[in-house]
Amino acid sequence: MEGAEPGILDEVFDNFFNSVTIFKDREVLRHDYLPERLPHREEQIKKLGMILAPVLKGARPSNVFIYGKTGTGKTAVTKYVLNRLKIKALEFNAPVDVCYINCRLAGTEYRIITSLCREISISVPFTGLSVGEVFDRFKTGLDKRKTIMIITLDEVDALVKNRSDMLLYELTRINEFLTRSKVSLIGISNDLRLKEFLDPRVLSSLSEEELVFRPYDATELRNILTERAKIAFHEGVLSEGAISLCAALAAAEHGDARRALDLLRVAGEVAERKRAKVITEDHVREAEKLIEHNRVVEALSNLTLHSKLVVLSIFHIMRKNGCRTVTGEIYDVYTELCGELGITPLTQRRVSTLINELDAMGLLNAQVVSMGRYGRTKKIRLEVPRTIIKEAFSGDSRLGSLIDYEPKCFTKNTSNRD
Ligand SMILES: Nc1ncnc2c1ncn2[C@@H]1O[C@H](COP(=O)(O)OP(=O)(O)O)[C@@H](O)[C@H]1O
Ligand SMILES: [Mg+2]
Repeated sequence: MEGAEPGILDEVFDNFFNSVTIFKDREVLRHDYLPERLPHREEQIKKLGMILAPVLKGARPSNVFIYGKTGTGKTAVTKYVLNRLKIKALEFNAPVDVCYINCRLAGTEYRIITSLCREISISVPFTGLSVGEVFDRFKTGLDKRKTIMIITLDEVDALVKNRSDMLLYELTRINEFLTRSKVSLIGISNDLRLKEFLDPRVLSSLSEEELVFRPYDATELRNILTERAKIAFHEGVLSEGAISLCAALAAAEHGDARRALDLLRVAGEVAERKRAKVITEDHVREAEKLIEHNRVVEALSNLTLHSKLVVLSIFHIMRKNGCRTVTGEIYDVYTELCGELGITPLTQRRVSTLINELDAMGLLNAQVVSMGRYGRTKKIRLEVPRTIIKEAFSGDSRLGSLIDYEPKCFTKNTSNRD
């Protein structure tokens, strides 16, 4: 490489090689790592095991509906039980097929059914068939197999929210059509309100049995972390204070073990980068900030184009005068930005709705202020530092050019309207 110093990388590599090693095995802190033991979930493990056990003697287990907030161990417990069930089924020579599908990751009903088919070796094309046709093939193929199939639909709320609960309905009725095989369903939901959205027939069939996962408290999280830390970190690297703080922060949120493990992993990375020998509470605090930063950047990047333009409009107004603004002023800047991009602006009413959504996401803050006899008005400001907005939007090819844009309506119209 021309111009580069010959030793430019030596330092990087040497530093890395000579650095104190914090992690023994970073992989065990990943979200999809399945630990050997799941403390504080013995009750749920046993109950799910008891519900599924009849399959070992050729009887169809009841359907189960599992719910609880994110990070309460639903996925881990279910996979844990299914893995052991598979081993026992082999041992006892019981005809069982176990299939696990994450509905949010699968995305569409078509993809879910093709995964089910693949599980029992029925080949289906990637496209070209309707959902109904693939489902018929699945039913026929399954019935020939003379088996009991346990189908786990994780994050099933994703299916229902996409208004595609046809598949769910068909699956809850499938046993009426099968003569030689049977299906048991395990539905898992992170959203406790899912019950209100489900077709009552689906709900009553799916919840033959119910399993609730309560949030972990700080002590429980601490035990989970301590156990995981033993395999993730070298001995003596993790301070007691750091581990307690990770547990306390995650417990204060909603008892989310994933959050607690994330804090621990990122705190380890911070310590490593600082070449510290021990992970301290300060590293955890820094990890908390980093995670929050990334969460906001991600939330901003995933907004629709129009919501991004609304955020960008408030960004410009606040850069200009630094104080709260009103819907009318935001709408003026927003329509101008739409004009710059050559797209049709939404109505002011629709933009008002977007503002409420952004408020609910915590990206901006809308405060209703009384204007005396002029009624009430909403005063809006960004809840996110402007540097983060720049960071999140500069990668977007269309928005990048609008970040340093100077809205013309500022010079034309300085009156305060709503
Ligand atoms: N009781 C537990 N013991 C050890 N690790 C756990 C426990 N509960 C959850 N975890 C870990 O926390 C993370 C989140 O758990 P997960 O099962 O994915 O939660 P959910 O499916 O309820 O959102 C996973 O990495 C999992 O390994
Ligand atoms: Mg899960």
